[in-house]
Amino acid sequence: NTTSIIFQTSSVACCNGAPTTTLGLSKGCFDPLDPNGNVTITYDIRTWTTRGYVGRVTVQNYYQFRHVEKPGWKLGWTWTRDEVIWSMSGAFATEQGNCSLFKFDTPHSCEESPVILDLMPEASPENRSEGCCRGGVLSARAVDPSKSFTSFEISVGSMDEDGHEQPPANVTLMAPGLGYTCSPFLDAHPTVSSVIDGKRQVQVFRTWKSTCTYSMFVANKTPLCCVSLSTFYNPSITPCPTCSCGCRKANKSSVHCTREEHPLSTTNSSNDLAAVQCSDHMCPVRVHWHVMTNYIDHWRVKLTVSNYNYNRNYSNWNILVQHPGFKQSTEAFSFNSSQLPSFRFGGELGVFWGIEYYNTELVQSTDINVGHVTTEIVLEKDLESFTLSNGWALPRRVYFNGDYCQMPLPDTFPMLPNGSSKQTLSILLLLLAFLFW
Ligand SMILES: *[C@@H]1O[C@H](CO)[C@@H](O)[C@H](O)[C@H]1NC(C)=O
Ligand SMILES: *[C@@H]1O[C@H](CO)[C@@H](O)[C@H](O)[C@H]1NC(C)=O
Ligand SMILES: *[C@@H]1O[C@H](CO)[C@@H](O)[C@H](O)[C@H]1NC(C)=O
Ligand SMILES: *[C@@H]1O[C@H](CO)[C@@H](O)[C@H](O)[C@H]1NC(C)=O
Ligand SMILES: *[C@@H]1O[C@H](CO)[C@@H](O)[C@H](O)[C@H]1NC(C)=O
Ligand SMILES: *[C@@H]1O[C@H](CO)[C@@H](O)[C@H](O)[C@H]1NC(C)=O
Ligand SMILES: *[C@@H]1O[C@H](CO)[C@@H](O)[C@H](O)[C@H]1NC(C)=O
Ligand SMILES: *[C@@H]1O[C@H](CO)[C@@H](O)[C@H](O)[C@H]1NC(C)=O
Ligand SMILES: *[C@@H]1O[C@H](CO)[C@@H](O)[C@H](O)[C@H]1NC(C)=O
Repeated sequence: NTTSIIFQTSSVACCNGAPTTTLGLSKGCFDPLDPNGNVTITYDIRTWTTRGYVGRVTVQNYYQFRHVEKPGWKLGWTWTRDEVIWSMSGAFATEQGNCSLFKFDTPHSCEESPVILDLMPEASPENRSEGCCRGGVLSARAVDPSKSFTSFEISVGSMDEDGHEQPPANVTLMAPGLGYTCSPFLDAHPTVSSVIDGKRQVQVFRTWKSTCTYSMFVANKTPLCCVSLSTFYNPSITPCPTCSCGCRKANKSSVHCTREEHPLSTTNSSNDLAAVQCSDHMCPVRVHWHVMTNYIDHWRVKLTVSNYNYNRNYSNWNILVQHPGFKQSTEAFSFNSSQLPSFRFGGELGVFWGIEYYNTELVQSTDINVGHVTTEIVLEKDLESFTLSNGWALPRRVYFNGDYCQMPLPDTFPMLPNGSSKQTLSILLLLLAFLFW
């Protein structure tokens, strides 16, 4: 009779470690909140040359609320016909490899399995290409589509002179760590672009595409984030579930704890162990949802994201919250926001991110301060559906940077005080509303 109606935790968001009843295999599993999310690698052959071809590779992040953060993506593949990379602009191969076969002109890379990195935004003009150089960082599509892709040019030499180029095999994408699985390059409709002010359409000779999808299981990552809840109508705070992201060691007196992180790159670094503030949930990130006030035609929530890391900032963070209240007009005061189009959860998905030059950086904690960003959100009421009972005013699901945040169990939610039937409560609220206006 309390909260059982709304909160079914049997979603199939297995890619993100959300609660599941039926665990899908990483290939067939997708996130229902972002079912079409993927990173697509498009490989266009634009011109043939006397010694091969010139291609253009585009990395497009189609994930609505998962971005590619620093230190950025790393793209790899294996040539199948002894190709070499004569030159590149807008990116570079990390190894030149053994180019001893080439006597007069040295290729950029002769590696059989090159690894390609993006150039920094400040790269010199002669190394740039159109739409390049974001330091490997790609925005989530719902947050900033104009920064969700990057391109580079590649001049490929192939010994083969029959013109039947084969795509490279075994595509790998680190973005930045493990987690992505890429399909082979498949033939696709040639990429079309317009010239002469859009009056003429031109197309490339050939296009191959590979689709990379993220899986929490492949990433082998411990959960990162949890949710705590509070309301104006109940003084108790529902904390994050104990051990959401790992368990605290027995000694309760220490303040600094360490937790294992996924390695962000293949190099050994101190990234693997992160220092976080000790807590019962041990999550480096906590999202707190506080139902602040209830007026006649709107209600107000305070949303706070806290970073308990001692040596990690989150640049261009985003959070996704699922709540039916977002179907009504919603205003966040200190975050930028948008509503995600969703066939299945029409209007329930709100994405929030920082305002430029104000709070796009979720800074680390110090011994004195917890790094946090916060906003108040005003939601218009749909009087048909709005209620404070059964935990309706609490979020259904929360994601931080694309990762599922562990939710408290419904039976721990803050409840309405006893005896406050709908009528007495609404009279009380009417009174409150008059006092406030
Ligand atoms: C990748 O994402 C795009 C955009 O959402 C979608 O059109 C495309 O079908 C997706 N590709 C695959 C193989 O799912
Ligand atoms: C470099 O490649 C040449 C030609 O394929 C080969 O003879 C030579 O042994 C290679 N050198 C090394 C160090 O692998
Ligand atoms: C940038 O261009 C210069 C001059 O063409 C070249 O020497 C340098 O290696 C290039 N850097 C990269 C990262 O490609
Ligand atoms: C691709 O990877 C598979 C499995 O690791 C391997 O058997 C195959 O030889 C690789 N293909 C190429 C062209 O390297
Ligand atoms: C807990 O750690 C503190 C400081 O590291 C130490 O002084 C104390 O004895 C420890 N307590 C237990 C029960 O291990
Ligand atoms: C990382 O460290 C381990 C053990 O210290 C070592 O075996 C491994 O080769 C190192 N990896 C890299 C990429 O340096
Ligand atoms: C995080 O940001 C703060 C303030 O901008 C800076 O002092 C600190 O060095 C940054 N930490 C890391 C690990 O980059
Ligand atoms: C909100 O985000 C959009 C898209 O990224 C951006 O164009 C706009 O300037 C942002 N607004 C603020 C106030 O930061
Ligand atoms: C609220 O009511 C239920 C059943 O009516 C009762 O079991 C519970 O103890 C009451 N709680 C409080 C705080 O009065």
